[in-house]
Amino acid sequence: MTGPPRIVVLTGAGISADSGLSTFRDPDGIWSRVDWREVATPEGFAADPALVHSFYNERRAALASVEPNAAHYALARLEARLGEALTLVTQNVDDLHERAGAIRVLHMHGELKKARCGICSAVHPWAGYLSLETRCADCKAAGGMRPDVVWFGEAPRFLDEIAGAIADAHHFISIGTSGSVYPAAGFVAHARAIGLPCTELNLEPSENAMAFQDRRYGRAAETVPLWVAEMERVLGRQRTN
Ligand code: APR
Repeated sequence: MTGPPRIVVLTGAGISADSGLSTFRDPDGIWSRVDWREVATPEGFAADPALVHSFYNERRAALASVEPNAAHYALARLEARLGEALTLVTQNVDDLHERAGAIRVLHMHGELKKARCGICSAVHPWAGYLSLETRCADCKAAGGMRPDVVWFGEAPRFLDEIAGAIADAHHFISIGTSGSVYPAAGFVAHARAIGLPCTELNLEPSENAMAFQDRRYGRAAETVPLWVAEMERVLGRQRTN
């Protein structure tokens, strides 16, 4: 193998749980409190935009009050070591990977701290309160601004880039996701189909756990730094060979 190993990492809400952000499908998760059809679909936004804005305003406020955890920092350290050989894909809309120092993060479900104008499609960084009255900084229209997140029924992003990275990778690892939502939950099948070693780091077996040859369970803030340290030892040995 010429150069460092090429690794594709997929993260889900579980990697941010140790920072204090709720996951979705755990017993106390977001979808146990809120109906996803009402707040995470285009139909829900059309029916009650104020409810949807309130849901995402609360999540933006929660995000402002938490910090990245050791798992985010460990992945950022590995990216600094591997550069372009690491492709970091996240289902999360939080910015904790970036705040831990990660540079190239593929947010396949969009970003909570961005807002998009439904009228002119302009996208703006947005850390604060958003409402129907919010005017677009570009077209100046009100009534069209929405969180720049991918709702159920909308197209996830970067799929071609992710497929290309998996096709070119030496290892696929999934961290903190239940494996409930496609296409992300199907990435491991693509990786297995081309013979990649696949690792799952999660609190408990995901829905597609059996697709992973290597499965390690525990809190991401503990398991991810251990896995990264293992990779760094492999890279160190590679350097001296
Ligand atoms: N450390 C590691 N894993 C954890 C931790 C933790 N501290 N806490 C929870 N988990 C695991 C849970 O066991 C679960 O398998 O994280 C996973 C979270 O699963 P979900 O709540 O379903 O979140 P996710 O897989 O990211 O959801 C995918 O669904 O609702 C949509 O768009 C939303 O991006 C989201 C997508």
